[in-house]
Amino acid sequence: MSVLFEPFPIRTMTLPNRLVLPAMVTRLSGEDGVVNDDIRARYTRFSRGGVGLIVVEAMAVHSAKSGPLLRISGGEFVPGLEDLARRVHDAGPSKVVPQIIHFLKIARSGWRQTVDMLSKDDLDAIVDAYGNAALRARACGFDGVELHMAHAYTLSSFLSRLNPRKDEYGGSLANRLRLPLRVMRSVRATVGDDFPIGVRFLGEECIRNGYTVLDAGPIAIELARAGADYISLSAGGKFEDARVIAGEPLYPYTGYSGDRCMPGAAYPDGANLAIPEAVRAALRAANLDTPVIAVGKLGTKELAEKVVARGQGDLVGMARALLADPDLPKKWQHGHEERVVRCIYGNVCKTLDENFKRVDCTLWPKKLGQAPESDDTTPPDWPAAGAELTAEHKEGRVVLRWKAATDADAMYGYQVFRGEALGEAVPLLTHHASVRALSARYEDTRVVPGATYRYAVKPYDLAGNRGPMSGTAHVRIPD
Ligand SMILES: Cc1cc2nc3c(=O)[nH]c(=O)nc-3n(C[C@H](O)[C@H](O)[C@H](O)COP(=O)(O)O)c2cc1C
Ligand code: SF4
Repeated sequence: MSVLFEPFPIRTMTLPNRLVLPAMVTRLSGEDGVVNDDIRARYTRFSRGGVGLIVVEAMAVHSAKSGPLLRISGGEFVPGLEDLARRVHDAGPSKVVPQIIHFLKIARSGWRQTVDMLSKDDLDAIVDAYGNAALRARACGFDGVELHMAHAYTLSSFLSRLNPRKDEYGGSLANRLRLPLRVMRSVRATVGDDFPIGVRFLGEECIRNGYTVLDAGPIAIELARAGADYISLSAGGKFEDARVIAGEPLYPYTGYSGDRCMPGAAYPDGANLAIPEAVRAALRAANLDTPVIAVGKLGTKELAEKVVARGQGDLVGMARALLADPDLPKKWQHGHEERVVRCIYGNVCKTLDENFKRVDCTLWPKKLGQAPESDDTTPPDWPAAGAELTAEHKEGRVVLRWKAATDADAMYGYQVFRGEALGEAVPLLTHHASVRALSARYEDTRVVPGATYRYAVKPYDLAGNRGPMSGTAHVRIPD
């Protein structure tokens, strides 16, 4: 059996496998922050897919205004969250924890509150808010709680090397850790010893003068000693290098640090693996066996297994890969990796989040609002005459057209494969794009003059069954 599907104990919960859905804001809730039908549907879908741990998107521990964001800041949110935890447990094997967050104020004018504007009373209130929210998480029936200390938010800004405070909460690493550790200890004291607490923080800030793994190791050690049961490592996502758009609030994922947080198609797979590897090694050197969650373009079973085998993580986090196909864990476990609908890391989901729009995956059939579900095992097929793929050069683009495939159940889309010819060599075809089933057509705008391109397409259905590859078509772009 693959190491990925071994049960994995964390304090009082045992995950059915080592696959984790890290928190991913969905923008499905209203500004009231209450759990609604869309939220229930989104998370029960992940549980049916079999992921080991679901971290429910960041929810606020305090009542500050924000766009659409879940909340856990008062008793009025408990019934909805309780119902959510119960439904996720009923739907499948997953364990489920909420990610709880405190954030500072930002304004459309570009102004933002920074940690040096907080009084000692404000800090006490933050500690209390986390403790109370964690207690609510427990009362709601969640299996644990995750403290959000990553990205551009309050506790991450304390940990940051750019923390501007001049008192005992800023400056040295020990001072920058003071508030996060107070929160950690207070949450532990509030929820008791039999409730798992995870922490997510940055292994690297990815901004100028920000901290690197050299600080992240000691941070992980201190948080683990203060009671953290797992360490989930993210990267970047800071305000400091965010793009400034007049009249818009800053979105902390628009600069280089944002790219490192959600590495797009141009980044290699496993782009951030050096981070969990270094932090995990620091924990082990301090005799701590706290599990580490690695994340960042970990979309194939082979890579996920390597992460565990190489000691780059104990648990494998996959946000976008699971958004694209929540059934990925089931498919991997049962040897059907070829049926996974693979994320293409084009970051449409990230752009939706940035614009406060509901976060759907661009690969899903339009208007479905959820990843499709099907148990069908029959792959789609081409018409008797084949796909009849054509490739035509038109004003600096290549237009591909083919005949629609059919499926016993329902078509989902087509994978477009492309190879670029160098001299006489026959080019290797690699996955280039995915197209929804509605259009048996694709425009390739990323072509250069003088090059020859070869294409093929492959249909896939709602269950992810792949049909046969079409014949190839090639085109030379004039000089
Ligand atoms: C739309 C979207 C929303 C996200 N929201 C959160 C969040 O609420 N909390 C968090 O810690 N990370 C959030 N992330 C970051 C992911 O958890 C994850 O670290 C990142 O996407 C890289 O992992 P991946 O390559 O598996 O997608 C979000 C990512 C995306 C794409
Ligand atoms: S929208 Fe794009 S990046 Fe986001 S999950 Fe879907 S395929 Fe992946």
